[in-house]
Amino acid sequence: MTRRPIIGVFDSGMGGVTVLSALQQLVPSASYLYAFDNAHFPYGNRPEGEVIQLVLVCLERLIQVHRADIVVIACNTASVSALAPARARFSVPMIGTVPAIKPAAAQSRTKTIGLLATPATVLRPYTDALERQLAQDCVVLRRGSVRLVELAERKMHGEPVPLQELWQELRPLFEASPSEEARRLDTIVLGCTHFPLLSDEIRAVVPWPVHLIDPGPAIAARARAVIAEAGFAVDVAEDAAKTIGPIALATLIDGDIESLRPTLARLGFAGIEPL
Ligand code: DGL
Repeated sequence: MTRRPIIGVFDSGMGGVTVLSALQQLVPSASYLYAFDNAHFPYGNRPEGEVIQLVLVCLERLIQVHRADIVVIACNTASVSALAPARARFSVPMIGTVPAIKPAAAQSRTKTIGLLATPATVLRPYTDALERQLAQDCVVLRRGSVRLVELAERKMHGEPVPLQELWQELRPLFEASPSEEARRLDTIVLGCTHFPLLSDEIRAVVPWPVHLIDPGPAIAARARAVIAEAGFAVDVAEDAAKTIGPIALATLIDGDIESLRPTLARLGFAGIEPL
């Protein structure tokens, strides 16, 4: 019988749960570890070298101490910076998360798309290359915001999302977009895994309807293929024992973790431990 994998999902904070829930649906056979670097959250304004070091330290623990068979870097900022060095360092199969520019370009009717991400992702050469290769026929408006990441993270801690402030963060995308119907922004790539957590609030404040591209399901589909290729079970036999809920692994267990517990419980997590 093929072995059921332990999948390590990594993000700087809670954004990666948007990818985790898509993974749980497509790869029900797996046990999940959700590692997050709350000691250094947010990553979005940090220089590339620093992000690489932080990610490598966390992945080393996830793989060597917690025995993840497969790693999904559920963080665009970490992936565009550290996916290549992480693949060079570790031998486990690794799946990254990069801005979903390709489906956005294909779906946009006005060929005017927005990339909403962290400042780090917006500025990385990796993102320039994606845009050059995949969105030649589009105008791509980029907006980097750390504040949006923080608002999403605080929502997971049970705090309300201030809509006026959210709109101020989105506004440059809409004001840069020409007002003529045929040319204006109609699709936004949620290029940070935290942002699908704010989809309802984003829809509530934008001045005209836009498609929001959540990369979670596409990453999960890619992960399923990689996991099957690596020889692990991806589906569960009817008589198989159920896996317990994901375990959260934090780099810092402090008082702030307490306000996260209700959200983790609602998401079916079985516990929280030090990474
Ligand atoms: N969730 C991360 C991403 O997808 C970024 C959050 C951060 O700035 O730490 O980019």
